[in-house]
Amino acid sequence: MPGARLAGVMNCLAMITRVDEYLHAVPLSNAIAEQIGPFTLFRSTTVWPYYARPDPGSGLTIEPSDIEAVRSRCEELGIPLSFEWVVETCPSLGPAAAAAGLTVIEHPLLVLERDEFRPATAAARCEILPAEEAVLRQARAVASLAFGDPGTAIGAAGPAERDAKAAEMPDEMIDAVLGRVRDGVTVSAAAFTDDGLVASGQHQPVGSTTEIVGVATLPSKRRRGLAAAVTSVLVEHAFANDVELVLLSAENQAVAAVYERVGFHRIGTAGAAE
Ligand SMILES: CC(C)(COP(=O)(O)OP(=O)(O)OC[C@H]1O[C@@H](n2cnc3c(N)ncnc32)[C@H](O)[C@@H]1OP(=O)(O)O)[C@@H](O)C(=O)NCCC(=O)NCCS
Repeated sequence: MPGARLAGVMNCLAMITRVDEYLHAVPLSNAIAEQIGPFTLFRSTTVWPYYARPDPGSGLTIEPSDIEAVRSRCEELGIPLSFEWVVETCPSLGPAAAAAGLTVIEHPLLVLERDEFRPATAAARCEILPAEEAVLRQARAVASLAFGDPGTAIGAAGPAERDAKAAEMPDEMIDAVLGRVRDGVTVSAAAFTDDGLVASGQHQPVGSTTEIVGVATLPSKRRRGLAAAVTSVLVEHAFANDVELVLLSAENQAVAAVYERVGFHRIGTAGAAE
């Protein structure tokens, strides 16, 4: 293998390892880790559930019996059974989960380094959000409507639906989000137009790595560059605060294209099973 190509492969492997380690650390701000065979089960200490992950670098082949051990423990604890992993670091998990009757999904896994970043703007005011209940409630409402209407197409829900949804978001959910923003484990950003908050997203730094999650645009406001602009604000914040590598997993290739436009590129595949 020519030297430059070998160096490229080694760099990609090192990056996947770093991403895997980050993904194993990030749940710990709201979960307790419990070892079950080759897995760490992250037992949630907040209002949303977590999942089990294979331990980074264990190199073990996952058997359906390993999945069953996690299933029994989740039943004992009364929590949902789900797994998340990086396919390249644990290729045996997908087939084992499918054999155990779980539904397996794969998503493009993308990364961005500082010199690859191509900032995007939109006809909106985009900014990092303060730790304030009202604005975080609106951001959460936009995310709820957006993820309820997946894909990249323009949809029906607009500002009126956002306000109705914001009013019905559970207080304990908003308190949990507020706590994370106050603690700095979640950084939230949003885009505002004359219609108020119309797109939102977060990043979750751990050391010099962060993940962008929950980017969402109110369905009626899609295809105006708002998601790209919110992503850019999050990336700028991350790079201004000692982050060197930003990652994300996109719902599908059409969604990944939104991030590729600001410089992200695919390094692998994120697996999920439940
Ligand atoms: C994915 C999602 C966040 C994209 O939001 P968005 O604000 O519409 O994204 P953008 O406007 O930046 O880009 C979307 C498309 O509009 C295009 N676009 C951007 N600005 C435009 C403009 N001014 N005029 C016309 N088209 C424009 C982009 O080129 C892109 O085109 P493509 O689909 O061919 O790639 C949104 O569809 C959504 O909330 N989906 C559901 C939740 C979700 O999947 N979130 C992502 C989790 S990883």
